[in-house]
Amino acid sequence: MRRLVSETRLHAADLVLPIFVREGASSPVPIASMPGVVQHSLESLPQAVSDAADAGLGGVMLFGVPEVRDARGSGATDPNGILNVATRVAAEAAAGRIVVQTDLCLDEFTDHGHCGVLDPLGRVDNDATLERYREMALVQAASGSELLGLSGMMDGQVAAVREALDESGFTGTAILAYSAKYASAFYGPFRDAVESTLEGDRRSYQLDPGNRREGLREALIDLEEGADIVMVKPAGSYLDVLSDVAAASDVPVWAYQVSGEYAMIEAAAAHGWIDRRRAVIESVRGIRRAGADAVLTYWAVELAEWIRNGDAA
Ligand code: PBG
Repeated sequence: MRRLVSETRLHAADLVLPIFVREGASSPVPIASMPGVVQHSLESLPQAVSDAADAGLGGVMLFGVPEVRDARGSGATDPNGILNVATRVAAEAAAGRIVVQTDLCLDEFTDHGHCGVLDPLGRVDNDATLERYREMALVQAASGSELLGLSGMMDGQVAAVREALDESGFTGTAILAYSAKYASAFYGPFRDAVESTLEGDRRSYQLDPGNRREGLREALIDLEEGADIVMVKPAGSYLDVLSDVAAASDVPVWAYQVSGEYAMIEAAAAHGWIDRRRAVIESVRGIRRAGADAVLTYWAVELAEWIRNGDAA
């Protein structure tokens, strides 16, 4: 009876797996603050993508970890930059079975670690960054990314990228807007994962964790600019924002269960302080219940297995 009347079910197709790919790696490199997650090499990537497809996941989201960084984030727009090469490799491995998505942001590629380029005073230059994002979008689309994850929180980024794509004939390449992205402590382990060089913080462009209305407003602006999917991030501490956005959006709403959310449950479970499987399932179900149509989660493959075995209710 309980199963029959459950309001929130999990499906593998509603899960997206983030994948890190490290330039120059000869084998997968473990990430200390994210036990169980690795930086893939270009050699180990195809298997990871086909495992995700076999698990029935909806998609994979690729992040590149380059060997060399500079002020403009040149690696991001180099067709032979790690993310673009990885995209071609992943698209081939996916063979249409799973959606290949890419992070469209400069932070992994800049030596200062910010999501955009800087002005002479060292501030993030919003409009100059849009020009870089337009170039990135074209290279990523040409590399085979089907869904561009705009995670940089620059004003006007959705409109700028949509226009660039359409002008170049990439009318079928979709945009996932990280609309309500908060300046969060929960990105900590991710910055290890991408070996971020950031000094300072991202408070001049990411949202204030105290602001609920503003999260909805950002999503509405992105819808207006042509986003195909809008996202709230992090997920667990922002369920109210997620619920607001889900009520207002006429396109799919996703949420990103970020690295710190992953690390906290893994750490507690490793101490024997929490039932790992139940905590993982409850955390993702809660995000779905609040209104997410799909969830980016580092547990996607394992969770899909539990779902398949009937262990995820
Ligand atoms: C930016 C980006 C970040 C994450 C995804 N895309 C980091 C940031 O904004 O600092 C964080 C994801 C996570 O913590 O799991 N490219």
